[in-house]
Amino acid sequence: KPSNHVTIVEMAPRDGLQNEKRQVDTEHKIELVNLLSDCGFERIEVTSFVSPKWVPQLGDAASVMAGIERRSGIRYAALAPNMQGFEAALAAGADEVAIFASASETFSMRNINCSIAESIERFRPVAAASRDRGVPLRGYVSCVVECPYEGAIPPQNVVSVAWQLRALGCYEISLGDTIGKGTPGAVDRMLAAVLGELPARVLAGHFHDTSGRALENIAVALERGLRVFDASTGGLGGCPFAPGAKGNVDTVAVCDYLETQGYETGLDKDKLAAAAAFARSLGSAA
Ligand code: HMG
Ligand code: MG
Repeated sequence: KPSNHVTIVEMAPRDGLQNEKRQVDTEHKIELVNLLSDCGFERIEVTSFVSPKWVPQLGDAASVMAGIERRSGIRYAALAPNMQGFEAALAAGADEVAIFASASETFSMRNINCSIAESIERFRPVAAASRDRGVPLRGYVSCVVECPYEGAIPPQNVVSVAWQLRALGCYEISLGDTIGKGTPGAVDRMLAAVLGELPARVLAGHFHDTSGRALENIAVALERGLRVFDASTGGLGGCPFAPGAKGNVDTVAVCDYLETQGYETGLDKDKLAAAAAFARSLGSAA
């Protein structure tokens, strides 16, 4: 019987801040991570080691990593699209690295400037280096149900990319509804296909809440046995290369929802509320 513990992987400093129109001060990013470190997360995605020309919002990745107060028991993670990003992430002290692919060819080109097959080749040395150096490697698949450029994505494309990331050695594959247009039915069909090849224990759900259906999609994923979800305290987020993408589902809302369903997350709700208020104060909606 699957457990009633659910792990939330915190996204606000990375997915949350990467799409902010205003440049958030490095010291405020550090303060946000420090507040989140008090909430009880096991993993916090702090930043991305990507091209600052592509994502200027996270151009201070190394300074943020250097400035945070590290708590034992928390893995501080960063995105890395290639070896250059991997080396920079490790030099900055990242405990975990995530590579990110897409189930949509057009999104792959717009997001990381290469085809899906080329991206897998680029990730190969990153995977080898992470294995050699004992760094946990996570993988993302974007556009698992809908692509902002191609529309509906066939579940088989998701299966193929998720399987390739797993074969590279990713301990977990996060399935991203990048633009938050997934309906519970489409998410369920996608998950059924992926679960034909990979067990639920290596999968995570990453839902953006553009259409207000993220919690319903989490419900579908819970039913399918998933127990790890990405969420962003304060609901910030979106992808600069996915027009229309809104924030990740809010960690506070996920936490509350899970509680009503009899799951526990181990998160401190008062501290989460304080971190959420601070996160929102950094967002352009503030
Ligand atoms: P490219 O231009 O094809 O790369 O970009 P290149 O290898 O030809 O290098 C060009 C320049 O970029 C060079 O600099 C490199 O040094 C530099 P120049 O000589 O011109 O001065 N460069 C780098 N700089 C810093 N760090 C690096 C790096 N690599 C190259 N790691 C590249 C390819 C992947 C670099 C680029 O497209 C990029 O950085 N893209 C970022 C995409 C991104 O961060 N997207 C948002 C995250 S994904 C997401 O949000 C979805 C997710 O949340 C899940 C979901 O919701 O679905 C994860
Ligand atoms: Mg995302």
